[in-house]
Amino acid sequence: MSETNPRLRAELEGIPTYKPGKPAAAADGPAAYKLSSNENPYPPLPGVMESALAAAGSFNRYPDMACTALMSELADRFGVPTSHIATGTGSVGVAQQLLQATSGPGDEVIYAWRSFEAYPIITQVSGATSVRVPLTDGEVHDLDAMADAITDRTRLIFVCNPNNPTGTVVRRAELERFLDRVPKDVLVVLDEAYREFIRDPEVPDGIEIYRDRPNVCVLRTFSKAYGLAGLRVGFAVAHEPVAAALRKTAVPFGVSQLAQDAAVASLRAEDELMGRVGSLVNERTRVVEALRGQGWTVPETQANFVWLRLGDRTADFAAACEKAGVVVRPFAGEGMRATIGETEANDIFLQAAEAFRKEL
Ligand SMILES: Cc1ncc(COP(=O)(O)O)c(C=O)c1O
Repeated sequence: MSETNPRLRAELEGIPTYKPGKPAAAADGPAAYKLSSNENPYPPLPGVMESALAAAGSFNRYPDMACTALMSELADRFGVPTSHIATGTGSVGVAQQLLQATSGPGDEVIYAWRSFEAYPIITQVSGATSVRVPLTDGEVHDLDAMADAITDRTRLIFVCNPNNPTGTVVRRAELERFLDRVPKDVLVVLDEAYREFIRDPEVPDGIEIYRDRPNVCVLRTFSKAYGLAGLRVGFAVAHEPVAAALRKTAVPFGVSQLAQDAAVASLRAEDELMGRVGSLVNERTRVVEALRGQGWTVPETQANFVWLRLGDRTADFAAACEKAGVVVRPFAGEGMRATIGETEANDIFLQAAEAFRKEL
């Protein structure tokens, strides 16, 4: 066999691989609960299961490529024209399309760090250069520093609100001030994957912000509050040129019929879904207060997870949690993120955190 391999793009070298949250059944122990991927612990609502099962009967057919029913449901739900909506294979799929549409070699993409770990990966795949702006000491986006980082080469800026993995938010006044400083030809992506968990009234709804700002695009997902992570469906709301670019860069038939129908059914069962989200928010309050009571510093979280900055104790903390029966998401040398899950899982996490704290 020849030694010559197919030529691959140099940009692919050194791309960090996306680390999915570890599954609950770890090879080296019987951890029972997965708190490592910010999933929803509730099973799909009954109507969702029925529509998904019905869609399964037509698996020999391609899905509706235009996602007609879902688009029209979303347009009604958010009061936006269907021409302003673009669906994709999870919001991370849509984020990748946004990069394809805006950025390439020589261009720059700004985001806070630490933030969602897909940003560096999809930026590097596009060939553009990542410009990471450290979070403030309070673990919040430093929007002034992000605006200062804009150059002639900047094409796209991610603002993750709430931020994954810290759960922290940027509020209306600071976001508006930041957007006023961004040149109109630079796309700002408000990644609102955890929007439904926000209870702070000062955090703006991106869909209100985008209306009179043609360079703002909002990303939402059915993976978190709506509990459809396994089906891969997310969407963007943006003005027509951006939404049209997303349709051009979409993988044809990328969103399965099952995902489309389940998303529609979830939107129709929203009252019940939001009841579940409310319970998770109550659990979040309980977990944060308990952790603080144990002496931990916990940043204010508006998402379905909590963040502890642990530095070089991160791996030990994660191992202690796993031994106790919950898998959390460690970021080596930095800290760990734990999803708010079932009450029993949260209790085990709190007990593990308390025991670890006492050993310090
Ligand atoms: C901030 C943020 N954006 C986007 C996503 C992607 O979600 P999905 O591709 O499942 O819609 C995630 C998932 O963890 C996330 O944390």
